[in-house]
Amino acid sequence: MRHLIDIKDLSVEEIKGLIDTANDIIENRAAYSEVCKGKKLATLFFEPSTRTRLSFEAAMWELGGSVLGFSSADASSTSKGESVTDTVRTVGCYADIIAMRHPKEGAPLLASLSSTVPIINAGDGGHSHPTQTLTDLLTIMREKGRLDNMTVALCGDLKFGRTVHSLISAMSFYDNVKFILISPEELKVPNYIRQDVLEKKNLEWYETDNMENALGEADVLYMTRVQRERFFNEADYLRLKDSFILDTEKMKYAKPDTTILHPLPRVNEISVKVDEDPRACYFKQVENGKFIRMALIMMLLGVTK
Ligand code: CP
Repeated sequence: MRHLIDIKDLSVEEIKGLIDTANDIIENRAAYSEVCKGKKLATLFFEPSTRTRLSFEAAMWELGGSVLGFSSADASSTSKGESVTDTVRTVGCYADIIAMRHPKEGAPLLASLSSTVPIINAGDGGHSHPTQTLTDLLTIMREKGRLDNMTVALCGDLKFGRTVHSLISAMSFYDNVKFILISPEELKVPNYIRQDVLEKKNLEWYETDNMENALGEADVLYMTRVQRERFFNEADYLRLKDSFILDTEKMKYAKPDTTILHPLPRVNEISVKVDEDPRACYFKQVENGKFIRMALIMMLLGVTK
């Protein structure tokens, strides 16, 4: 039995296989419509979500399976004091696979230690979000035709942004990827990403607060929201929330083929006017999330076309 807790649980070959399957699903939707018939996915979301939960559910429906679950801790027996461990042991009696989001870092890992069915980390606190990263990799592959030989700029809340941590880890697998990290001083990437990934792998990277210069270099710009829910102090959030805003003026500094991504939800950090720019790919990214999650569910359940 396999779980997906961290993007590093997957090899480069397995990621390529998932991307290939997702691309095949996009081309041949009907061929996958019954591959998970009789299987059930449980979505256990202890923290709010629109894209991740609904794309997992849409993915399972499109594979011919069924879904059950809850969308907040309040709607489960967690509110009565039940542990994560007991919850997943219970849900494993009803479902074949579980996608779990939790505000506590490490909760999906803890759940996987006692689960009788595969656990997928659908985001744990400010730590990691491996299925968003699979979504991002599929989108970059479809837009750029490659995952190597590029400059990736990541902008915004690089401290609490779990999608950023997982994406840097994943892109570090590929040759000649340079990172530009654009953030306020207080929201720089955490030390474990700096030391265990960027420095340990001797990658090319630098930190800056100059978005315009970075835009001129970036093949991919990955914008992120400042994560209000991770701040202890509202005043700090209000001071930092609009540090970097991508608008049509700033887009003039970007290359003609820069791919603009954002895991969403956005607040102010990308002007809605940018949505009309053909380089804005974040709604394509949303759609790709369903297809790569279909491929992942198939892989973890061991089903094929
Ligand atoms: N990208 C992402 O995780 O979005 P949701 O919080 O809406 O699931």
